[in-house]
Formats: sequence, structure tokens, C-alpha cells
Amino acid sequence: MSLWGGRFSEPSDADLRRLNDSIGFDRALYAEDIAGSIAYAQALVSAGVLTPDEANTIIAGLEQALAEFDNDTFALMPGDEDIHTAVERRLIELVGAVGGKLHTGRSRNDQVATDFRLWSLRAAERLLDDLRQLQSALVEMAERHIDTVMPGYTHMQPAQPITVAHWLLSFFWMLERDIDRLANARERTAVCPLGAGALAGSPLAIDRQALAESLGFDRPSENSLDAVSDRDFVADLLYACALCSTHLSRLAEDILIYSNPAFGFISLDDRYSTGSSLMPQKRNADPMELMRGKAGRLIGNLTGFLAALKGLPSGYNKDLQEDKEALFDSLDTLARLLPVMSASIGSLKINPENMAAALTEDLLATDLADYLARKGLPFRQAHHAVGAVVRRAGELSLALSALPLSELQAINPLFSDDVAAVYDFAQSVAQRRAYGGTAPEAVREQLARARQLLAG
Ligand code: ARG
Repeated sequence: MSLWGGRFSEPSDADLRRLNDSIGFDRALYAEDIAGSIAYAQALVSAGVLTPDEANTIIAGLEQALAEFDNDTFALMPGDEDIHTAVERRLIELVGAVGGKLHTGRSRNDQVATDFRLWSLRAAERLLDDLRQLQSALVEMAERHIDTVMPGYTHMQPAQPITVAHWLLSFFWMLERDIDRLANARERTAVCPLGAGALAGSPLAIDRQALAESLGFDRPSENSLDAVSDRDFVADLLYACALCSTHLSRLAEDILIYSNPAFGFISLDDRYSTGSSLMPQKRNADPMELMRGKAGRLIGNLTGFLAALKGLPSGYNKDLQEDKEALFDSLDTLARLLPVMSASIGSLKINPENMAAALTEDLLATDLADYLARKGLPFRQAHHAVGAVVRRAGELSLALSALPLSELQAINPLFSDDVAAVYDFAQSVAQRRAYGGTAPEAVREQLARARQLLAG
């Protein structure tokens, strides 16, 4: 039996029900729906709508329904269009007509918004745990490679030497911002719509402050009309998920490139690599390609939902039901991606020899310019002079360090014997010790700050 059959003379069409019903996915909200109902029953006692006895009967029925969901014995009926209908139907079966008093002053509009906010708060908590795990994996691997030098890239072209720890930690900070965004989204989610009714507010003396607190919310919503149609929290969370998966995708892309045999900087553990059905030699990084591919899907969940929101008139509209599958999907997807990324990082094999082999002297061209600048040459002129050095080395097919001093001095007389000291990759990174730089000394401080954040 539906919750709204009174004004209709015919039952709704089966195809309409297949389109309209949300029980297939909003069943996931059962615990929150029942928690919201128990709190609401108590609020109805304070408002003088239910006697304490009636409330106890209703709460016992709700607890029974909860147990049935928990142990998978809750039997759904054909008329159970959504989780709210299913719970109320079962409640009335269990406790009789008094169960029908629970919905006094309440609408599924404030009910579903409350349920989904409660669910989202818990889901965000689980996501935070997964994010911290990945941060820990990055920190642990970074700690082992504070002194390992690799080429750093801009425009995907060799740029300057960096340390492996510095590369790995760059993703720690992206994830830290993801965590921050999530914490921010949680604040806006922790607002309780219950008591807003369908749109206009409650005619009952509901203490909404107490009701919000009893459910663990920070505060009640300010405007009943806004409360039932506000899904900003869903968009916030979808954005936090989309950006987080964008970060995973970028890390995955680095791993794909650096593990390609042409680079050979890193190798993914066998457990996180895949093979080819045809080419026996292949070692693919499918999980990383999935990180990249799923990011597209999560961005789609965000933009799809924003598109669903943008044209809605005031008040609740059924379009809002689209919120759930989008967020369920984004969170489920991240819950599958993050543990694989953490384990892939944790078991990553770093190949320092291959990195060292890729450290060509052109990566030190900036250091050469810095050398001239230290001797007093304005950096712009130093940059130009080193450009000429690089060109001359190319003409003579020589490495920079093999260029005779006379050639260097012909370009700029400030070059002298001590230039030999520039051709040292460890020295190059060691110099970049200002706050946030790649020098092992600075990275140790960076690691300490990362560790502090992990410790909470
Ligand atoms: N299944 C609905 C949703 O997810 C519940 C609210 C239905 N409200 C209504 N007035 N039809 O949004």
C-alpha cells in the first residue's frame, strides 16, 4: 500500500512504478531512516502528539524493523516504493494503527533529506579513513627515498632533478586538501532538515534544536523551504569525490609513465599488475588505468547532478531523487580505488639505477645559470649564456661537463675551474633546501609535518 493512495481511484501503472520506485537503491538508508524516526517519535512526545507509551510502542516496532534489516529478514512488499514507505508499512504491521501517528507533521521531503544527510556524514567518515591510509603509504615510501634522485619534469620534458620522496609527497598534500574539502562539506551536511515538513514548516511544537542534536547534527536548518530542496551537500561531496579521484588519476598517470620500460623508474608489484591474453611479455598497469578512467565517471556524477539541480523550481521535486545513485556510486568507486592505490604505493618497487641513468646533464642547466648568477651575473644574462653553452655542447656532440673550459669562457669569462662542482645531481637537490623544496634536508621537515597531520 502506498503512502498517498487516498485521492486515487486506480492503482499506479507498473511501468510508472518501475520508474518512480527508489527502494532498489534507497534501501541503503534503512538505518538512518529508522534512527530519524526514533528521534522524531521522541520529539512528538515532547510536542504532546504521542504519549510516552505510544512512543515506546512505536520505537520498539522500529527497532524490530531495524533488526530485520540487519539480519536480512526484512521482506519488501510490492507497494514499498521507497525506504520510508517500507519502514512505515512494516511498523504498522508490527504495532498496529498507532504506528500511523509517527508521520504526523512529517513529510518524506524532510525525512529523505535527513536520512541522506545522516548517511552522508557516516560515508564521509569512511572515506576519510581510506584517504589517511593512502597518505600513510605515501609517507612510508617517501621515508625510504629521501636521498633517491630522479628527473623532475615540466611539460613532460626533463626539467630539474628532484628526490623520489618529494615526488611522492606532492600527492600527500593533494590528499590533505581532499581531506580538508571533505571536512568542509561535512560541516554543511551536519544541518538537520527534520521538522521542515513538506515545505512550510511544522504546525507542532517540535523542538528542532533538540531533535537535531539527538541525531548528532550540529544544528537545525534555518528555512523549511530551503531545507527540503537543498542538495548542496550532495554537490559538495560529489565535488570532493571528483577532485579526489582526479588526484588519484594524476598519480596513476605518473605511475603508468614511470613504470613504462622506456622509463623503468618504478615497477608495480605483481599483485597490482595485469597481463595480456595474447602477448606473453606484457605487464600492464590496469589498476592505474582504472584510476584514470573512473575519474571521468566521478566527474560525470558531479556534472550530471548539477545539471539535474539547475532548473528546479522552489521546494521538493522528484528530480532530487537523482542525488542518491550519484553519491552512492562516487563513494563506492572511491572505496574500491583507494585501497588498491594504497597497496600499490606500499608495494611499489623504486629502481634508483634507472632513475640515475635518466639523469642527463641538461637537467643541471639551471644550476649552471645559478652558478653564474652567484658570481654576480644578472640571472637573465646567466640564463642566456647557459643557453649558448647548451647549444655549443650540442654542436660538438658533447655532454655539458665535457665542454672544455675554454669553450665556456668564450661564452662568458665568469666560468672557471670550480664549474666542475655543478655537475653533481645530489648537490643540485641539496641546494633546494628552502621551505617546501626538494632537498633531503627540507623534505625531512616536510615529512615531519606530514607525519604530524597523520597523527591528528
Ligand atoms: N524517494 C524520494 C527521494 O529520494 C523520497 C521523497 C519522496 N517525496 C515525495 N514527495 N514524493 O527523494
